[in-house]
Amino acid sequence: MIKAIVAADDKLGIATDTGIPWDLPTDKAYFREQTTGSPILMGYRMYQELEQPLPDRQNLVAVRPDTQLRPGFVGAENITALLDEYQNSPATLWIVGGAALYQKLLDRTQTIYITRVQGDFSCSKFFPSFEEYFKLMNKAKPITENGLTFHYEVWERL
Ligand SMILES: NC(=O)c1ccc[n+]([C@@H]2O[C@H](COP(=O)([O-])OP(=O)(O)OC[C@H]3O[C@@H](n4cnc5c(N)ncnc54)[C@H](OP(=O)(O)O)[C@@H]3O)[C@@H](O)[C@H]2O)c1
Repeated sequence: MIKAIVAADDKLGIATDTGIPWDLPTDKAYFREQTTGSPILMGYRMYQELEQPLPDRQNLVAVRPDTQLRPGFVGAENITALLDEYQNSPATLWIVGGAALYQKLLDRTQTIYITRVQGDFSCSKFFPSFEEYFKLMNKAKPITENGLTFHYEVWERL
């Protein structure tokens, strides 16, 4: 199974030029719960923003050949082979961003776990438009934290 997990604002914005513009501990815990124990695949810029690998899961980074990574991160040079491995497997590969990686792999993504953060955060990076190709399977109740309201949704490919 190939799943994407993302938090996005009303315009599907996911980051400004300086990173994710909200701090939602409950959403971070949700991300941790969902992805712990499964491999996560991130883009190179997302990798650059992480101070250290996320614990208890394999941290894969989509890289060009011969890219050196810090300890605890594993380079994935052949994304197609990796996706083929997980496409029909009961095991999950989590696509965790950023924007370029979500866009590139949307066609291969089966399920989207999206945290909808209310508002417009003037983002410069966006999750791709997806609703045309997916159906809403689950919508949780809103949560308010740090003055922001958000809720979780799960979408499945049509
Ligand atoms: N809100 C959320 O849920 C969420 C989740 C994850 C990330 N984010 C945010 O998304 C932002 C990052 O997204 P992004 O679209 O800028 O980048 P990204 O998807 O993380 O990384 C892919 C980009 O890295 C570039 N790159 C540079 N050096 C590379 C190398 N050696 N190997 C492979 N690729 C290399 C690629 O360039 P080429 O296209 O030229 O190959 C590509 O544009 C961050 O600010 C992060 O905070 C938000």
